[in-house]
Amino acid sequence: MDVSQTIRKRRAYRSLDPVAITDDLIKDLARHAQLAPSCSNNQPWRFVFVYDPRALKEMHAALSSGNVWAQASSMIIAVFSKEEDDCVIRDRVYHQFDVGLSVGFLVLRATELGLVAHPIAGFSPKKTREILGIPKEYKVITLIILGKHAETLSPVLSEKQSSDEKRRPKRKRLDRFVFLNRFTSQ
Ligand SMILES: Cc1cc2nc3c(=O)[nH]c(=O)nc-3n(C[C@H](O)[C@H](O)[C@H](O)COP(=O)(O)O)c2cc1C
Repeated sequence: MDVSQTIRKRRAYRSLDPVAITDDLIKDLARHAQLAPSCSNNQPWRFVFVYDPRALKEMHAALSSGNVWAQASSMIIAVFSKEEDDCVIRDRVYHQFDVGLSVGFLVLRATELGLVAHPIAGFSPKKTREILGIPKEYKVITLIILGKHAETLSPVLSEKQSSDEKRRPKRKRLDRFVFLNRFTSQ
């Protein structure tokens, strides 16, 4: 077992080379997402794996302008769920939390396979629903952009995106989010 190595290797790269999409790859990623824990084992996550070149091209219309780099992806995975499919305990609504866990598992598996799986929020859920036929009652949470990390920098990246490509964006120090025994405000 070396989960730690995979976690440290994962990056949200934006310079992408194509990768062959096979049924086996889709099943492999889906089987890892499937094993995520969820409230009452409700498994609220839903995924559309978009890899047909024509469908993929249609999905480019749903990307925000800052995500032009994602047009180089070989597969876009639309991730969606609805509140009724998972626990709601007073003000605690769990479907997006559980979907996040399954996406985490999928992303780590993709990383282990040598791929880039980059979740984005910069997209139009409305256009995504229209293009993919996803009913209105579902919330489209993210698109996962899949490809292989290219050695050469994508020419469409902004300055900030180019520098993020070379060096992992900084994380908060542990003492900003870890509390021992009791919460303390800084
Ligand atoms: C929910 C979510 C939304 C994100 N949205 C975008 C996005 O729209 N465009 C983008 O280029 N990166 C997006 N990212 C990637 C983050 O910018 C990236 O994970 C962060 O800068 C840390 O970099 P790292 O993952 O390489 O460590 C998103 C990541 C997450 C988890």
